[in-house]
Amino acid sequence: MLLTALRYSHQLLKEIVSEGDHVIDATMGNGNDTLFLAELVGETGQVYAFDIQEQALQNTREKIADYKERTTLFLAGHETIEEKIAADQPIKAAIFNLGYLPKSDKQIITLPETTKQAMQAILKRLTTGGRMIIVIYYGHEGGEAEKNEVIDFCQKLPQEEFRVLNYQFINQRNSPPILLCVEKKSD
Ligand SMILES: C[S@@+](CC[C@H](N)C(=O)[O-])C[C@H]1O[C@@H](n2cnc3c(N)ncnc32)[C@H](O)[C@@H]1O
Repeated sequence: MLLTALRYSHQLLKEIVSEGDHVIDATMGNGNDTLFLAELVGETGQVYAFDIQEQALQNTREKIADYKERTTLFLAGHETIEEKIAADQPIKAAIFNLGYLPKSDKQIITLPETTKQAMQAILKRLTTGGRMIIVIYYGHEGGEAEKNEVIDFCQKLPQEEFRVLNYQFINQRNSPPILLCVEKKSD
């Protein structure tokens, strides 16, 4: 059976992330991706996770209780990646789940400008063969505009440097999520 966007995002991460890697969860939320990544990077790796809501940090802290040493949780927007993560720190993978935190305040959403700032900071640090995955939820108010800007940004990435995949079910009701995967080519 074809994988959902969520499942496929994990598959794409699993294929490339291994012990010792440094990776980013750009939208921590309930910590599902942070936990998944913490298991992949092992004891010697590091997951940097970002969210602007205290609730997200609390939920994530509980989830990764066994993996405290290999995770760094920031109560800060992903637009601060540029200042929080050293410019020479290689990043093997990053994931975004855009939109709002399920069962929480639907007014607190990711925004096109800050999402773009974060994507730029990640791409500067991405290793050869590294992947930046963006799962776009866009059914909410403001979601459509963000979707368009993120797709536009990724479509304009130079083909000599990046491969960009778009994965989406196109016959489903209710705005099914879109998965974009940007993979850095070898020099
Ligand atoms: C769809 S949820 C993420 C779900 C999460 N990946 C999980 O596994 O539960 C989107 C999250 O992005 C967060 N968010 C909104 N603006 C943000 C920003 N500028 N930087 C980081 N996170 C942000 C929201 O607070 C929300 O928790």
